Amino acid sequence: MSRAPHAPADPYLLGTDPEEARRLETQHRLWADATRDLWDRAGFGPGARLLDLGCGPGFAALELAGRVGAAGSVLAVDESDRFIASLAREARRRGLAQLAARVERVEELRLEPGALDGAFVRWLFCFLPDPAQVIDRVASGLRPGGRLVVWDYLNYRATTLQPRSPAFDRVLRAVAESWRRSGGDLDVGGRLPGLIAEAGCRLLDLAPLVRFVRPGTAFWDWPTQFFFSHVPRLVEAGLLSEAERRAFEDEWRAREREPGAFLQAPPMIGIIAEKE
Ligand SMILES: C[S@@+](CC[C@H](N)C(=O)[O-])C[C@H]1O[C@@H](n2cnc3c(N)ncnc32)[C@H](O)[C@@H]1O
Repeated sequence: MSRAPHAPADPYLLGTDPEEARRLETQHRLWADATRDLWDRAGFGPGARLLDLGCGPGFAALELAGRVGAAGSVLAVDESDRFIASLAREARRRGLAQLAARVERVEELRLEPGALDGAFVRWLFCFLPDPAQVIDRVASGLRPGGRLVVWDYLNYRATTLQPRSPAFDRVLRAVAESWRRSGGDLDVGGRLPGLIAEAGCRLLDLAPLVRFVRPGTAFWDWPTQFFFSHVPRLVEAGLLSEAERRAFEDEWRAREREPGAFLQAPPMIGIIAEKE
């Protein structure tokens, strides 16, 4: 599969090209019910003033803007000017004046203290070398009683293709190494509850976000899009050989023809916390 070479100036490990934007859209659609469930339980509703941190092209932010309505507000922040420009365009097209999109590195996030009713941070902390200082910034922006909803990976090595595939296991190790090399951590979810508590937020719930995904179902697109777009980057980065890439693709496609095959998808944690 061919793809445009990764722009060297692009700091986000997975790139900001249209292929990644489409992957994020699929991912949001497939996980939308679980996401809405966390928002409901956090009380994100009409009139709320919310932050969506590391919003990407903004599929969640657009939904949140609908949820809070004209009386509320959503501030969507991402370091990618490409993602933010596309989100701002879409917000204008839909007439969502309550949605503001801002280019900013989250390490330099500036928030008015105590002005937010809620914050949503999904699939961001795994990319950050120092999640603690970003959590502190988010917590300082929440009012007492404001709610934080966080969603990220943990225990990544539990991801398995069944029947077991040595080629897939090699890819998985290379993916985790690519994250580590860029300063991130696919096990960050295990540390997040402690960091959130240290930032002065009381944990209300820890939700397991775990799925078994079968070929031929809609959810199968989620890992397929991820691995088929990221594996070529692993080859470019010298973390996998071309032969290992081919072996992975062959075994993945072979599993798609096996009636009993499934993927234990990368485990994730959903966290709901309240600013004290
Ligand atoms: C996997 S995407 C998740 C997007 C969105 N939160 C979602 O759930 O669909 C991660 C996003 O984090 C952004 N990001 C990564 N590191 C960042 C940083 N240091 N500052 C700001 N944004 C960052 C990337 O640009 C990317 O849009």
